[in-house]
Amino acid sequence: MKKTEIISTFTEYQYTELSAADQELLDHAKRALDSSYSPYSRFRVGAAIRLESGRLLSASNQENIAYPSGLCAERVLLFGYGAQVKNDPIRDMAVIARADDGSYKDFIKPCGACLQVMAEYQQLQTGKYRVLLSSIDGRVIECDGVDQLLPLQFKL
Ligand code: THU
Repeated sequence: MKKTEIISTFTEYQYTELSAADQELLDHAKRALDSSYSPYSRFRVGAAIRLESGRLLSASNQENIAYPSGLCAERVLLFGYGAQVKNDPIRDMAVIARADDGSYKDFIKPCGACLQVMAEYQQLQTGKYRVLLSSIDGRVIECDGVDQLLPLQFKL
């Protein structure tokens, strides 16, 4: 028998403590909340990535009356990136969430399916990307790579 302990490390910041570049990335994710199509959950999620070239991309969650057809912001963003961008690795990602009724105060924790997709896009490129997970009132958790959020990633 062998017991293994996995330790994840996160750093917590206030939005105002972030670098100008990180604030800009989070601002992009926050602006994407406006494009969220979430009439069923009334829960908005915005996500943004900065690529090595400096290019910024953002997206939001998109729901559908056929509920399982909807997709989380992280996957709308990363699948769009995968479909459109070549040879420009992801260096940073930011995600933020807001409930329409203001009830959600915590920082966003990406769902398991999104973590798996985030992990695979990291595996596809050289080097990790940082992930910033923000609350709507500016509490930001920084993770140095997707491994911190999903240490046991499905791989073949
Ligand atoms: N959602 C995301 O966009 N990202 C996540 O990581 C978790 C959940 C969306 C899906 C759905 O539109 C709404 O939030 C409520 O679950």
